[in-house]
Amino acid sequence: MQGRPAINSFTIMNELVLPNDTNSFGNLMGGRLMYWMDIAAALSAMKHSNTPCMTASVDNISFKNPIKLGNIVHIEAKVTRAFHTSMEIYLKVWGEDSLHQYQYESNEAYFTFVALDPNGKPRPVPVLIP
Ligand SMILES: CC(C)(COP(=O)(O)OP(=O)(O)OC[C@H]1O[C@@H](n2cnc3c(N)ncnc32)[C@H](O)[C@@H]1OP(=O)(O)O)[C@@H](O)C(=O)NCCC(=O)NCCS
Repeated sequence: MQGRPAINSFTIMNELVLPNDTNSFGNLMGGRLMYWMDIAAALSAMKHSNTPCMTASVDNISFKNPIKLGNIVHIEAKVTRAFHTSMEIYLKVWGEDSLHQYQYESNEAYFTFVALDPNGKPRPVPVLIP
């Protein structure tokens, strides 16, 4: 199988924090952010493997700063390691306050995804070309 450059898996996802996404303090709910991160990581894994992928594991996620209602969420995802059928995906998340024009770190994490064949069984992925 031909290797694939890391840049191919680069994914940027943006979301706007709306009232239904927040807790009672007006901050983005952690669970909602993890849901968006899971989608961004899945897209990145699918771009590398060119096949449907499943979340196998998520490492530690610690939230440095809350993302406020009305702010923009930026999620950057890329495959940083390809194994046999699994891939490591690095995610970086930050918020943007467009009213006061500044950006701030939210969190970063590593996810592991497994590429699947049409029978739902793990299938080999291309080598990652740095
Ligand atoms: C992930 C899954 C597809 C792996 O299938 P499996 O039959 O256990 O396959 P294997 O044991 O051959 O593992 C396949 C690959 O996944 C990796 N893997 C399996 N479980 C893992 C875990 N918990 N964390 C990290 N990697 C894992 C293995 O190391 C292997 O990697 P490699 O081929 O690159 O060496 C299967 O365990 C599964 O479907 N889990 C549920 C996933 C799910 O429901 N996700 C949504 C969250 S609700």
